[in-house]
Amino acid sequence: MALHIIILAAGDGTRMKSRLPKVLHTVGGQPMLRRVLNTACALGPEGMHVVFNPAAPEVRDACADFDVVWVPQEQRLGTGHAVQQAMPGIPPDARVLVLYGDIPLIRAATLRPLLAGDEPLRALTMTLGDPTGYGRIVRGAEGSIQSIVEERDATPDQRLTQEVNTGVLVAQAGPLVGWLGRLEQGNSQGEYYLTDIFEMAAADQVGVGSVTAERAWELAGANDQVQLAALERRFQVSEAERLMRAGVRIVDPNRVDIRGDVDGASDAWVDVNVVLEGRVRLGEGVSVGPGCVLTDCELAPGTQVHANSVLEGVTTTGACQIGPFARLRPGTQLGEGAKVGNFVETKNARLGDGTKASHLSYLGDATIGDGVNIGAGTITCNYDGVNKHQTIIEDDVFIGSDTQLVAPVTVGQGADIGAGSTITRDVPAGQLTLSRSKQVTIPQWKRPTKKD
Ligand code: UD1
Ligand code: CA
Repeated sequence: MALHIIILAAGDGTRMKSRLPKVLHTVGGQPMLRRVLNTACALGPEGMHVVFNPAAPEVRDACADFDVVWVPQEQRLGTGHAVQQAMPGIPPDARVLVLYGDIPLIRAATLRPLLAGDEPLRALTMTLGDPTGYGRIVRGAEGSIQSIVEERDATPDQRLTQEVNTGVLVAQAGPLVGWLGRLEQGNSQGEYYLTDIFEMAAADQVGVGSVTAERAWELAGANDQVQLAALERRFQVSEAERLMRAGVRIVDPNRVDIRGDVDGASDAWVDVNVVLEGRVRLGEGVSVGPGCVLTDCELAPGTQVHANSVLEGVTTTGACQIGPFARLRPGTQLGEGAKVGNFVETKNARLGDGTKASHLSYLGDATIGDGVNIGAGTITCNYDGVNKHQTIIEDDVFIGSDTQLVAPVTVGQGADIGAGSTITRDVPAGQLTLSRSKQVTIPQWKRPTKKD
């Protein structure tokens, strides 16, 4: 039977008190709805249908790359009404899985057992110590689900039930359309409750199945900022655990943030308050010091990033030293044994093996060979106000402190540049070049004195 997945994402999200539609709030750096869509894709459905509020088209724009049928729900009349909007696009012999845009942590592995049974209606339930806020599962004497009652509509006895509705269900499209057509708004919220179909199915005696989710935290919804933060932290801990299982030492799993596709090899070390974003690969034994932010980086085994460094688009090809307080921008490539120290900024810069820029430099649009020493305060003047130009520094060059290299310029192999030089023309290999005025001393110089 073909699987169609409906994702409910039209709710107003008023409890978020935010201009951003609820399902676009991020968890682990990714909008919640995109997470749900990725999970849905993993199940290989025939079709995906997202019910959204047409007054918030940014929801559709943020997920435009997914192959989805966008179903507008003009008025938020309840979860039952929302599902009903999508049904005309689904063949009557299909199976329908209902997911929620604000339940982002659910995994395909949790959904597969729900899809495994063949009853016309199956619910995913969970058991909570504190069931407050959730619909309660009401089971009959023989154990099958008789109905689901919302907390506001539940009797005090029903409220004691700890088995609750996750909201996720799977149903055969044919009977589902029938049940949805019979929904009424006679409840405390005046809404068409999707949950009411369970009582109808039980009355029809079609067979109602259920699966209990083992990891309840996966099914937590984010209705307000407090729940969103709790969910974010739970997600972060699970990401940290994934890395730790791969052999990464995470000093404190409660003080690391992973917002992307991050992988680490054994004996990589991640200190506290580190943020890893985008695609990050940490090779064996890489260490990332406290307070670092790494975005889209691939660090070769043994690379050490010291405290408070910010790296974006950096590749290292061997063990090298970065920071503390280094800022490495996109297009930075460091060779084996290279060193970029404190207050050094790089961009589109390649530093060869053993090359060192230990302090206070700007290296932009530069190709720097092996064994080069860049003195403190060296600046590549790569921008003339209109265009960017290249600086090429060949192997074994020594650049004295406080040198400006006005690009385009090439410094030949083995050259030395005297401290404080402004280099505007190519520098020949193997010789000392400097550009500075001669030092003079004025004898018997008198400091000015204050006039009366
Ligand atoms: C719902 C369930 C409840 C369950 C809980 C699990 C119902 C009636 N109740 O309650 O049993 O325990 O989820 O989290 O189904 N939405 C629309 N259009 C609408 C209304 C809602 O798209 O007209 C979407 C919302 O964006 C949200 C989802 O449906 O993603 C759930 O709606 P919400 O109002 O949050 O339901 P709950 O009160 O949480
Ligand atoms: Ca909800």
